[in-house]
Amino acid sequence: MRNGDHSTRLHKLLPKQVNIVEVGARDGLQNEKMVPLDVKVALIDKLSQTGLCYIETGAFVSPKRIPQMADSAEVFEAINRKPNITYSALTPNLRGLEDAIQAGADEVAVFTSASETFSQNNIHCSINESLKRFEPVIALAASENIKVRGYLSCVADCPYEGPTQPAQVASIAKAMSDLGCYQVSLGDTIGTGTPLRIARMIESVSHLLPAHNLAVHFHDTYGQALANIFQALQMGINTIDSSVAGLGGCPYAPGASGNVATEDVLYLCEGLGINTGVNLEEVVRTAHYIAKILGKAPNSKVARSQTPS
Ligand code: HMG
Ligand code: MG
Repeated sequence: MRNGDHSTRLHKLLPKQVNIVEVGARDGLQNEKMVPLDVKVALIDKLSQTGLCYIETGAFVSPKRIPQMADSAEVFEAINRKPNITYSALTPNLRGLEDAIQAGADEVAVFTSASETFSQNNIHCSINESLKRFEPVIALAASENIKVRGYLSCVADCPYEGPTQPAQVASIAKAMSDLGCYQVSLGDTIGTGTPLRIARMIESVSHLLPAHNLAVHFHDTYGQALANIFQALQMGINTIDSSVAGLGGCPYAPGASGNVATEDVLYLCEGLGINTGVNLEEVVRTAHYIAKILGKAPNSKVARSQTPS
């Protein structure tokens, strides 16, 4: 096969446009030592200048469990909002949603797991109980015209139970969609997946839900996130969760490292001719800003190889 034929075939499989869901201020900072309010606000304000349209801004969860997110209401209050950007928050229960509404979140996200043990550790209930808990959250959100996104964790492996069955991922993703989540973000929470397993999982979910109702949320513990995203893109998924400077992790997912870095995803998309609307240089600048404050190098190949002037 000639190169040109191959690249044409690949092009047909790939989306023309990818939506980036920036999770650094939530998934990233929930896994760091306490970051002052003004730094969170500066981070989000800088991200707002990059062309990103969706910024996860905080989480209305128990401050005893995730103290790093305890000031989410203040963050929403202080950021300089741009009208074309969705500023969202995690809301595990009605109390979280009420607080998110009060804070003016544009959208919210509920979250559960494909693994019972992770669910118990992360949100203190079974998978079925978590789905029950979503019902009043989604009903109240609908009455307030707030869209609800869903996160499904451990779609490849669970830190406690090992491999997850693709059929299990598919049936819970479908249940979340049936409850009213407009999109289900498939989370490789501990970043152990590789493209073939990710493809099997997405294929299984795709039997029940269209790809445009799905997103991928890959942590990069084993350096497979970009390969897994490349696989997901070829299967019709065009919403990618990522985190500036590759920050991220979940305190209840031992051994997991950061999310795939936004700047690495942007570089990949640019190279594939996929439009994201996001300025790579500005994101790299922001990655260096937050990494410096956190006292480490950005956790991404792209930011490490580009030092902003
Ligand atoms: P619970 O532990 O089952 O117990 O909470 P509860 O409902 O009885 O509440 C316990 C305490 O939390 C009580 O306070 C409540 O008032 C309070 P106390 O009486 O002990 O003083 N509380 C709240 N406080 C503030 N906001 C609330 C709220 N709800 C209860 N909304 C709950 C269940 C889910 C709330 C709790 O277990 C929790 O907050 N867990 C934290 C989960 C979390 O944030 N994990 C990290 C985010 S998920 C993630 O990172 C994965 C993801 O990135 C995708 C992926 O990578 O796979 C999304
Ligand atoms: Mg995550």
